[in-house]
Amino acid sequence: MAESVIISGITKKEKYESLLPQIKALIEGERDFIANLSNIMSALKFGMNFFWVGVYFVKETELVLGPFQGPVACTRIALGKGVCGTAWKEKRTIVVEDVDQFPGHIACSSLSKSEIVLPAFDKNGNVMLVLDIDSDQLATFDQTDSIYLEQLMRLIEKL
Ligand code: SME
Repeated sequence: MAESVIISGITKKEKYESLLPQIKALIEGERDFIANLSNIMSALKFGMNFFWVGVYFVKETELVLGPFQGPVACTRIALGKGVCGTAWKEKRTIVVEDVDQFPGHIACSSLSKSEIVLPAFDKNGNVMLVLDIDSDQLATFDQTDSIYLEQLMRLIEKL
């Protein structure tokens, strides 16, 4: 297994195209779900230099914090609450350019300024977890992030 991810490329697109094959290689040969998710969070955080990267698992009526990299975070989020709970309820990717403009945004860290949340689905089409990525800059995430991170979600669904 590689000791660390090495990102080549200047543009965001190039960085994702460098990162995703390394993530695939990283999880190859390991079948433990939490171990793989943990390494994916680290590869994303340090590969893309994000402020906070983590997953929340759907557990009954709430989202519960799972593997993450970054400052400590809220542990439970209800359906429909915050960006994460909204992505779960609406079963779709949500990009927030300015968290202060998102009604009900849950501020785990006051340093977080923009974020993207993407759902992963189980075999029945139910959301099983959401991936949350936070930035300490405004408007960090756009369609390029959605496209590549949605590819990552499809990979996570197969773990
Ligand atoms: N901001 C998220 C909560 C999770 S933390 O940012 C890690 C939200 O509004 O759902």
